[in-house]
Amino acid sequence: MTTPSLSGLDLLPTAVVLVDVGLAVRYLNPAAENLFEMSSKNVAGQGLDKLFSNTAVLQAAIGYARANNCSYTEHDLELGVNGRTRLHLSCTVTPVELPDGKAHEDGLLLEFRHIEQQLKIAREERMLDQSQATRELIRNLAHEIKNPLGGIRGAAQLLDRELERPNLHEYTQVIMKEADRLQSLMDRLLTPHRLPQPAQLNIHEVLERVRSLILAEYPRGIAIRRDYDVSLPLLNGDKEQLIQAVLNVVRNAAQALQERGEISLRTRVVRQITLARRRYSHAIAVEIRDNGPGIPEGLRERIFHPLVSGRAGGSGLGLTLAQNFVNQHHGMISFESVSGETAFTILLPVQENDERGTMNAERRNENRSA
Ligand SMILES: Nc1ncnc2c1ncn2[C@@H]1O[C@H](COP(=O)(O)OP(=O)(O)OP(=O)(O)O)[C@@H](O)[C@H]1O
Ligand SMILES: [Mg+2]
Repeated sequence: MTTPSLSGLDLLPTAVVLVDVGLAVRYLNPAAENLFEMSSKNVAGQGLDKLFSNTAVLQAAIGYARANNCSYTEHDLELGVNGRTRLHLSCTVTPVELPDGKAHEDGLLLEFRHIEQQLKIAREERMLDQSQATRELIRNLAHEIKNPLGGIRGAAQLLDRELERPNLHEYTQVIMKEADRLQSLMDRLLTPHRLPQPAQLNIHEVLERVRSLILAEYPRGIAIRRDYDVSLPLLNGDKEQLIQAVLNVVRNAAQALQERGEISLRTRVVRQITLARRRYSHAIAVEIRDNGPGIPEGLRERIFHPLVSGRAGGSGLGLTLAQNFVNQHHGMISFESVSGETAFTILLPVQENDERGTMNAERRNENRSA
């Protein structure tokens, strides 16, 4: 039987509860304190059946793990917490020796996972794998197209010089113009693969740049409202890439509005979040909302795929590129859209060493209010 170390459990993103033989709680790690909204110190010594209601399924899992002296996972568990919330959880019960108790005291380690959250993480992981595969495919395809394209254009140019009948130039011009158009499309597809040049940046500088670019493009008719959380931490990121990502999303909103309507840019901090399979204590959320017609229903599933466009003259690359740039920052982009309202959310993680600024600021605020 193993003895878990409490300092190790403190760092786990999974909610862990340790109980003794009598099923009295000994310890909750911070993730469990968060999940059940109770403090380890306050509930230590209380029985599981006091803290939770509807514990029959959990008790049965505990009975099985004990009787067979092995780990047992119950995948479908509903627990009542504080007599009000019902949580839908999975729970793994493992017999262990309790760490700092008396010598050889047996106990149980209970690991809880929130099922909706697990489903959400699985969905995000699938999306991430899919977008990585698409990126790879596009990159290879773009390379394959680019090489012969140069040859085609060169040959058309030579032919153009040799042609004697002037009315034939029209055809060589078409070949050259279309080759140039394809070339610039391929160049756009390949740009995200330049290495990012990260530096400390304030996300509001990015948003302000995008705002002024869009206002210049649409001198009449578009209002851009700002709702910024000025206490946000700095980010470590590539400013040009982030401007491009946000610009592509805001420009889509502006195009959808057709000079009638409003866009709002909102920033917030999000705590304890898993992005691209990594856990962060802080992330920045940028929300871009518009009151336009909404994303056409038939496009919603494929909106981030390359060359998918619902706009005459659109190349369908804006959101693919935005997603690439955001993924390169280990972030995520998603949207919700109904007729009359579309909101894109970009989540960007704050890396631990970017965070010191905020943590110190938070601590200063705490000291001030103390
Ligand atoms: N805010 C929005 N409201 C309504 N439709 C939108 C919105 N954002 C995106 N769309 C739809 O999604 C499609 C894909 O957008 P995306 O930016 O990838 O390509 P595009 O705008 O068509 O072309 P490009 O950006 O490459 O010039 C758009 O053509 C549009 O139909
Ligand atoms: Mg676009």
